[in-house]
Amino acid sequence: MKKFFIFLIFLIISSSIFFFNYHENNKFIIDTLELSGSAKEGDSIFKVNCVGCHGITARGLVGPDLHSITKRLTDKEIIKQVTGGLTPPMPSFEIDPVNMSNLLKYLHSLE
Ligand code: HEC
Repeated sequence: MKKFFIFLIFLIISSSIFFFNYHENNKFIIDTLELSGSAKEGDSIFKVNCVGCHGITARGLVGPDLHSITKRLTDKEIIKQVTGGLTPPMPSFEIDPVNMSNLLKYLHSLE
């Protein structure tokens, strides 16, 4: 019986952590998609954070060419790619919705 309660408490704690993370992530995505960013600002963010791997003109280096990336991936998928750290060596970025939106606008400007 005691084991069952310990298990139950564990379950409640882990599912609430999961829920809050999920909720936070979703809120970030929704906030980002509500903004219409500036490609110029996004260009600066890209130059500081991304060129090392994706190249100064985003034609690819260690990381892939990002031209027409917005035709292959949805905005949501790109946000997850940038903030998730799901595909090492690409790190996860701590970025706020405004800058994320700028970055998206910049990526949309790459044909
Ligand atoms: C340390 C190197 C590195 C940095 C810095 C980096 N990336 Fe990447 N990125 C990669 C690699 C490597 C991949 C390919 C991952 C894979 O194999 O799926 C990638 C993949 C991507 C993809 C998906 C491409 C595709 O074809 O599916 C996007 C979008 C992307 N990066 C955007 C960015 C942006 C925006 C930044 C800056 C905020 C950035 N990356 C910074 C290395 C990097």
